[in-house]
Parts: sequence; C-alpha cells; structure tokens
Amino acid sequence: MDLLIPDKVHDESRQGEALLLEPVVGKNNGRKLYIESYGCAMNFSDSEIVASILADSGFETTSDFNNADVVFINTCSIRENAEVRVRNRLKEFAGAKSKNPGMVVGVLGCMAERLKAKFLEEEKLVDVVVGPDAYRDLPNLIEQVDGGQRAVNVLLSREETYADISPVRLNSNGINAFVSIMRGCDNMCSFCVVPFTRGRERSRDAVSIVAECTDLFNQGYREVTLLGQNVDSYKWSGQLADSSEQLAVGDEVKIVNFANLLEMVALVNPDLRVRFSTSHPKDITDEVLYTIAKYDNICNYIHLPVQSGNSRVLELMNRTYDRDWYINRIDAIRRIIPECAISTDMITGFCTETDEEHNDSVSMMDYVKYDFAYMFKYSERPGTLAAKRYADDIPEVVKQARLAEIVAKQQQYSFYRMQARLGRVEKVLIEGFSKKSNNDYCGRSDQNAMVIFPVTEGYKPGQYANVLVERTTSATLIGRIV
Ligand code: 5AD
Ligand code: SF4
Repeated sequence: MDLLIPDKVHDESRQGEALLLEPVVGKNNGRKLYIESYGCAMNFSDSEIVASILADSGFETTSDFNNADVVFINTCSIRENAEVRVRNRLKEFAGAKSKNPGMVVGVLGCMAERLKAKFLEEEKLVDVVVGPDAYRDLPNLIEQVDGGQRAVNVLLSREETYADISPVRLNSNGINAFVSIMRGCDNMCSFCVVPFTRGRERSRDAVSIVAECTDLFNQGYREVTLLGQNVDSYKWSGQLADSSEQLAVGDEVKIVNFANLLEMVALVNPDLRVRFSTSHPKDITDEVLYTIAKYDNICNYIHLPVQSGNSRVLELMNRTYDRDWYINRIDAIRRIIPECAISTDMITGFCTETDEEHNDSVSMMDYVKYDFAYMFKYSERPGTLAAKRYADDIPEVVKQARLAEIVAKQQQYSFYRMQARLGRVEKVLIEGFSKKSNNDYCGRSDQNAMVIFPVTEGYKPGQYANVLVERTTSATLIGRIV
C-alpha cells in the first residue's frame, strides 16, 4: 500500500477526524451527517466523494456524532490495530445510537469490504456496510435502512473511478488538496490486504484529473497530491484536446502514462505545486524522474517504499524487485534529481526474517539515509498470500526490537537530512499558523520538510515565501523569511 505521505497518509494512529461539509443550498433534507476517516489518504479523499454524494441528497454535516442522523466511519484494514481502533470507536457510536434509535450507523471502506455482511453479525448496531466502489449507492442504502432493513453493498468494480464527482473538500485549509488518479491495486504484495479490499487497478480519465486540478487552482489551492496505490502504473487513453492544449495534437487518441500526467498537471500553473504518492520501485521510470527534474513545481520528494532490504524477504513479500534493483532506482533518483528527498515504508519481522536479513534493512537505511520513514511490525492479515503460505513465526518481542532499532536509526537520518538544510533558503508554501503559536507560520519546503518561521507582513497562507533555515529539530526546519 504504497500510499504514504508524511502525516496525512496511512497514519492510522491519527484519531479519526470529523469532516465538515456545507449542505447544497435548496436541497437540505434536514438530516445531519457525521463522517470520520481512518487510514490512508485515499480514504480521506474517498470521504470527500461520499460527502459530495450525500450533499447532493441534501445532507448537512455536524462535527458532533451525538447530533447526527447518519454516522459513517471510513475504515482501514492495513494492520490489525487499525481495525481494533475502528471497533472501539463503533462502541462509542453504539452508545449514541441507543439514545437515538433512528440514527443510521454505517461502516465504509476497507473493513467493510473485508468483512462484508459479517460485519452486521459482529457489530449488531451497524446498519450499513459499504465498500469503496459502492459509494454512489449510499443514498439508496440509507433509504433501505430508513425502511427498517439493514443494507450492504460491497461490490467491487473494474471501472468506477468517481471521475465525474467533484469532491467536497473537507477539513480543508483551502491550500492543499488530494486528487485521486487511480483506484485499486494489482500488485499482490503477499502481506497486503489492499488488493482484496480495493479491487483491481484502474486509472481515472486524465482530462477529468487536469480539470479538477485547474478548478482547485482557480479556487485558490496551491498544492495537489495525486493519489494512487501505485501511481507509476497510471495509464489512460483518450482525447486530450480540450483540457491540455499544451500537449495535445488535434483530436487524436493519446496514451497518457504517469510521466505525461505529471507534466499535464504541472502545466496547469507554475504556482501549483504537484506532489504524488505512492511510487513503486518496480515501476518508477527514468521518464518520471526527468519530468520531476524538468518542472520546478513538481516537488522533489519521492515516497519509495522498500519494505525490506533483503532480496529473499522481498521475494517472499512478492515485491517483484530485489535489493540491487531498489538501489539502482535510488541511484537514478540521486543522479537525475540530486536534491530529491526520499522516504520509505519498512516492515520488520516478516515471516521467517532472520537477524541477518533484518540487518540488510538496516544497511539499506544506511545506504539511502531516508529523509523520512514509516515503519511497521508485520501484522498478518487474513486472506493475504502471506497468511495462506507462511507462518507468522517471528516472536512479537523480536518484531518489536527490530522495529525499535530501525526507528532509532531513522531518527538519526531524519536529523541528518534536516541539518543539511541549515543555512539554506527554502521555498515554502505557507499553509497557516504553526500549531504552537499564532506568531509563527508553518508550511512545507519543496522536499516536504515542515518549516516554521515568524509571521511576516505582506505574507499570507497560500503564498510562497523564501525562508532561511537557522535551526532544526529532527522533524522541523526553523527560520525566517528573507
Ligand atoms: N503488516 C505491516 N505493515 C503493513 N503494511 C501493509 N500491510 C502490512 C501488514 N500486513 C505497510 C507497508 C505499506 C504501508 C502502507 O503499510 O509498509 O507500504
Ligand atoms: Fe501497495 Fe503492494 Fe499493497 Fe499494492 S499490494 S497497495 S503495491 S503494498
């Protein structure tokens, strides 16, 4: 699930968030929706699609589930603890429902897809179970529940990309937005439940992606993050003439790959920053790297999950590359985009992993010196290839010790990368006030580092500022506008 972006994506440790939307004027049906999202950026982006579909049926939102007529939880199945968290949250919703029996409680997303109707047996107070490809059916399903039934739609689709739905931006700062460019995954990494919960890979119409990005820019947004489980295998064919004149030649049908799409989005406006997640080591091409290098507004930051530094373990994981291939891709990034920040995902204690093999993961960290890493203990997921084929045989204490080792290592390298920015001037997109003080702004550098600096006259959120880095922590650059 190569889909991480620092602090937004696949961080199921975050509390779910209440997402707010405005009702569509004139269509208000007098009912209130509360929606909470867990897991990856794709889920947060999907909740914006759900919000849009329900706003069309007249739902207004509330940030207090006790007041809601419909309570949805958009769930993640990636690791067991993600599911545990959702079940605990459902217990809290059950309390509210017992006081308000008309309340509709729904489970959306990956857990819905994984457990299907079983969810209704296991969690007696859930009324609706809806998988990631069935959100258009939500108004119907709610009606069924209103009529006294319980409702399930977990059909996966080979076509659904919600391309025509204009997401209602939730919890938005009006500056950064996620834009989903594909759905599903065909990779079948042996540890991963995503191919089962999100179905086959399909790419969204490039014209609708560029139109959405253009629209976002016109509304004042200054950064888009293109989302997919494996963006490098994006592929769409069709006519481009209307939406991207710079690239199109007449009305002929074009094949658009990820490099082409990046370029089309970069051309929307030089002031629109373009980020993307997630790249797959087996698919990331030099063409993509050259495109990143060519456009200043495509950020120099690549999330390239390695998962393990050992070739035997990578084979068991069915990642379809080995250590040398991954190193070759890292070397290509360093050669073509010397300033590029790189982050990763790493799993410790995968089935049969020995101490020596774990050491290969550690030495990979020494080789790449990642700017950032998401690190996990292996968590066996029912139905995956690994669960069927291999014993989950690494003791919890060993998984934990290996995890602690790589976490400590990463902290050193994050600090090292931050220190390397000292004395440099970073172009920062101002996102708002810093969490700690309204006297400071925060924003991200091109390389995706969080930067904090004093509020300065003449600068507002949504604008770019050149910030001289004067101090750092292992997670933040601190400086002043120059
Ligand atoms: N156990 C632990 N980590 C996992 N991931 C995916 N599946 C599992 C699992 N079963 C991690 C991978 C992936 C990230 C999003 O979550 O590192 O890239
Ligand atoms: Fe990512 Fe592999 Fe899971 Fe696909 S199967 S979502 S590539 S980890």
